[in-house]
Amino acid sequence: MTRLQVAVLVSGRGSNLQALIDACATPGFPAEIKLVLSNMEGAYGLERAAKANIPAVTLPHKKFASREAFDDAMDEKLREAGIEFVCLAGFMRLLSPSFAKRWEGRIVNIHPSLLPSFKGLHVHEQALAAGVRISGCTVHYVVPELDSGPAILQAAVAVEPSDTPDTLAARVLEAEHRIYPEALRMVAEKRVRLENGRAVFA
Ligand code: GRF
Repeated sequence: MTRLQVAVLVSGRGSNLQALIDACATPGFPAEIKLVLSNMEGAYGLERAAKANIPAVTLPHKKFASREAFDDAMDEKLREAGIEFVCLAGFMRLLSPSFAKRWEGRIVNIHPSLLPSFKGLHVHEQALAAGVRISGCTVHYVVPELDSGPAILQAAVAVEPSDTPDTLAARVLEAEHRIYPEALRMVAEKRVRLENGRAVFA
């Protein structure tokens, strides 16, 4: 079986990276993580990569003159490693439109809300301020606009009256860890693809 060659891009804790690592370690999983890339030195995700014997590189974005220069350096690392597919997992950098275009249909993100609600940062604060009774998470194809792009999988999570941003985040995170590996499996098994800006399910 040829497995989809995946890179995971992180900036921090990397718990979604861990969920993907664990899934890829299960027999018959159709994808393999070949590279972890971080824009932050010391990101805990890098340690998770090391523990799983996955090559990891850090590209501190501050050392690059522009967003495009940073993205070009990432693109080079991805191509050097033979990467076919990219998973953003808590990667806190906006991507340049040209990078997003170059990887179109081959790059996905996880976001801790039911998109298109609550894009950007402080997502759980936004959900609680809006007073929604259901939140959740979304795995979606990446397009140049932030937290946009067609969904591959979503999971709903009930908002409890007693929730704080932290308790809601923790419950949503559990759902993230379930759907991200499942979405990667769908992609790797060619059960979903991006076509004319829409997710098409086989
Ligand atoms: C997750 O909530 C993810 O949805 C968001 O950033 C957080 C990253 O957490 N994009 P982790 O680094 O995967 O633990």
